[in-house]
Amino acid sequence: MNAPKNDCLIRALLRQPTERTPVWMMRQAGRYLREYRRVREQAGSFMKLCSTPELACEVTLQPLARFRLDAAILFSDILTVPDAMGLGLEFVEGEGPHFRNPVRSAADVRRLSVPDPETDLRYVMDAVRLIQQNLDGSVPLIGFSGSPWTLATYMVEGGGGQEFRRVKGLMYEQPVVLHDLLEKLADAVALYINAQIAAGVDVVMVFDTWGGILPAAHYEEFSLAYAKRVLDKLNRRHGGKIIPTIFFTKGGGQWLEAMAETGFDALGLDWTTPIGEARRRVGHKVALQGNLDPMALYAPIEAIRTEVKRVLEQYGHGEGHVFNLGHGILPDVDPEHAKAMIEAVHEFSPAFHGR
Ligand code: CP3
Repeated sequence: MNAPKNDCLIRALLRQPTERTPVWMMRQAGRYLREYRRVREQAGSFMKLCSTPELACEVTLQPLARFRLDAAILFSDILTVPDAMGLGLEFVEGEGPHFRNPVRSAADVRRLSVPDPETDLRYVMDAVRLIQQNLDGSVPLIGFSGSPWTLATYMVEGGGGQEFRRVKGLMYEQPVVLHDLLEKLADAVALYINAQIAAGVDVVMVFDTWGGILPAAHYEEFSLAYAKRVLDKLNRRHGGKIIPTIFFTKGGGQWLEAMAETGFDALGLDWTTPIGEARRRVGHKVALQGNLDPMALYAPIEAIRTEVKRVLEQYGHGEGHVFNLGHGILPDVDPEHAKAMIEAVHEFSPAFHGR
């Protein structure tokens, strides 16, 4: 696969000069778009949408038809990996994800097998190949996985949205069992991401959505160490190209120095850490992606433009910034407000680049 024509994102992630700041949005393909809701309804269920490459491809491309984005992100979910490990994923309408067979004991961990991505998750790889054909080199495609820790939280809890009592219970009472689970997940995630790279993704992002619930004393041991283990197994060059890597721990602002030591090319930032401060702390080592508060998109358009300018100003002049929200776009945001954010990045960011 040749390098994308618009390689602004790739260069920014590698901290090379660009003419402006690249922009994309976490969850850019999703329920806030009426065309997404239509295809989602046609598919019948979220998992059917993920597992039908033609439909996953269609919704991946939808936001690119509307907005001047610098990347596409594979339409899938982080929970497809535990599903392929036999946990039986269901999305209960209005309740979020649920696993029929959660992992609670050493025996449960022992029973888990590491999926073969080209067979057990073939629909994801087929979607990557189909999306790349359709993008035809216009913009880079971002592949992704959950971090081992974040996947473990869902697998042990049996779903989301709780207090994490079970997974933290396991951490304090049977840390060896949790380590065994995380080790298996690190293998599974690395194989899965390498298969996405082989299928053609240009960038990879590891989502550590729940790293921030850990006490500082345990974050490195249970989350970061396994993200690093994944990174160390990745094929970071493919077809003559560097595949940049992004690591995002929501709520991880206090641990940026440690995160920057792992060797990821870029760190995702949620909206709670000022991006200028983050740059001063780690910007000589990594690029930074973020970090507009997703709630800012509820504000009137003038206020959105002010907030975009604030983030660009905080980061300051020079390379290494990828504009994004600090977390996923919310389902009831007006797409015109997302558009205003993206247009403001195009309008204001050139002043922060060049001489
Ligand atoms: O556009 C994109 O960003 C690509 C697609 C994508 C989805 N999920 C689609 C999705 C990506 C990158 C994800 C990652 C993901 N999934 C994460 C990490 C990022 C984050 O948000 O922190 C997590 C924690 C999940 C797990 C997950 N998936 C939950 C908890 C839920 C239910 C809650 C919700 O938002 O509805 C999902 C479902 C999901 N994944 C939807 C989408 C578009 C909504 C489902 C629907 O359409 O019915």
